[in-house]
Amino acid sequence: MFDIERFLEEKLNPVFRAHYALWVYWWPMWRSFSGRRILQKWEECNLVQEGQTFLDYGCGTGDFTIPAARKVSRQGKVYALDYFPRQLEIVAARSARAGLANIETIHSASKTGLPDESVDVIWMCDVLHEIKERRAVLKELHRVLKRDGILAIHDGMGERTLDYTADLFSLIVKEEKFLRFAKISLPEIAAAANGR
Ligand SMILES: C[S@@+](CC[C@H](N)C(=O)[O-])C[C@H]1O[C@@H](n2cnc3c(N)ncnc32)[C@H](O)[C@@H]1O
Repeated sequence: MFDIERFLEEKLNPVFRAHYALWVYWWPMWRSFSGRRILQKWEECNLVQEGQTFLDYGCGTGDFTIPAARKVSRQGKVYALDYFPRQLEIVAARSARAGLANIETIHSASKTGLPDESVDVIWMCDVLHEIKERRAVLKELHRVLKRDGILAIHDGMGERTLDYTADLFSLIVKEEKFLRFAKISLPEIAAAANGR
């Protein structure tokens, strides 16, 4: 059975534990309002396109999973990953209500189980700051992102995000809390390690 106490103890920074207890109630209300502006940003940079494979890491109740599934359409695929099973149940129910057949949920706190270089866009909205093992998660996301894929992070961590993306992803654009990264390929990583 899912152990919420263990999850809070192991996976979240202490400062977020109290916040998390209340989060399930107020977050959907907040997101239905704040999500509109973020989706507008998607449009402005054409983040999600038809036929793509999209990973919504820390998907919550699916406020971005559903729009992404509509965007990628039947030709594309959306993976909705979260460690909190309740969220995934809500995503599955919302997906069924919306008649979307291209969403697959993944229950995990780091590993995606997806093949190497199989994802076009990885989306992390207001989740990075909650993750304790940020570097391990970002290494996994580096593994699954395609060479020309995009990692898009929306988070209040600001410049500190770069401490965790270093040597894995290079920052392309930063617009307030919205950061977009390109993948640094393995030969580039090896060259940097050898001082070339
Ligand atoms: C603040 S919510 C944001 C949800 C959604 N991305 C949004 O913007 O509406 C953060 C989500 O990240 C999930 N989460 C936290 N740590 C995680 C981890 N290590 N792996 C996967 N999901 C995690 C939580 O369960 C929660 O659903």
